[in-house]
Amino acid sequence: MSRIAYVNGRYVSHREAAVHVEDRGYQFADGVYEVCEVRDGRLVDERRHFDRLARSLGELRIRPPMSRAALGIVLRETVRRNRVRAGIVYLQVTRGVARREHAFPPSSVSPSVVVTARALDLAGRDSTAEQGIAVVTVAENRWPRVDIKSVSLLPNVLAKEAAHEAGAKEAWFVDAEGYVTEGSSTNAWIVTRDGKILTRPADHGILRGITRTVLLDVIAAQQLTLEERAFTVEEAYAAREAFVTSASQIVMPVVRIDGRPVGNGAPGLVASALRRDFHRHAELG
Ligand code: PDD
Repeated sequence: MSRIAYVNGRYVSHREAAVHVEDRGYQFADGVYEVCEVRDGRLVDERRHFDRLARSLGELRIRPPMSRAALGIVLRETVRRNRVRAGIVYLQVTRGVARREHAFPPSSVSPSVVVTARALDLAGRDSTAEQGIAVVTVAENRWPRVDIKSVSLLPNVLAKEAAHEAGAKEAWFVDAEGYVTEGSSTNAWIVTRDGKILTRPADHGILRGITRTVLLDVIAAQQLTLEERAFTVEEAYAAREAFVTSASQIVMPVVRIDGRPVGNGAPGLVASALRRDFHRHAELG
């Protein structure tokens, strides 16, 4: 079956899907995106993803390309046309196509919208979760507004590549004070020896992950102790458990940090229980 992409009002063959060379997303990374999990062909936490999209657009003063309802229809139609039952849908909105000038183009320029969908290998993801993943730490080198889900991801790309070259699946950014901020495409968590779950507060230093937000509800429902505070790399090395969260990974146990085993080197009980219960708390659209 051939894949389909939505590009500026049309459903086109994925192979031929293209944007203009002067799209500001292409030239300046002047755009934002969302990644939403698809489960049983339905969108997971659509409302929260749309809220975050609206915030990202607002922070960058990009005009919403269409109503939420219309965008919801496009996401669903893209999922349907690609026959995705379990996977992800990707939405990107840029400031549009205009002659290359750094300052904003005239308000007559319409934002560009691209939507793609693809299946994920759930069995593969589950077996990865049973093994756990390795992470490496890298120096935080991103701009101070990573709370905006911008397509400007070069430091994240370099960090993920560094992880892969070190035989790891994810990289954790560490700020100048030695505190972990987040992963290159995930939020970072640890469980301390005395059973406290730690994750950095969602200020401007991290992306407020939707998976992170839902997980706070799961943690409350399981009556676990949460401390929203930054933790150091040293605390992470000494942790009983560690894990990362994102729409495509849900809760993924971390079993090695910079080559050192976390806890006993196997996925932890807390991470596994949170992963198991996650979808009971997520909204299915
Ligand atoms: N990444 N932090 C960063 C830097 C991210 O890129 C992501 C998401 C997250 C987790 O957010 P959420 O739980 O809403 O997925 C945290 C997406 C999945 C991506 O870039 O593919």
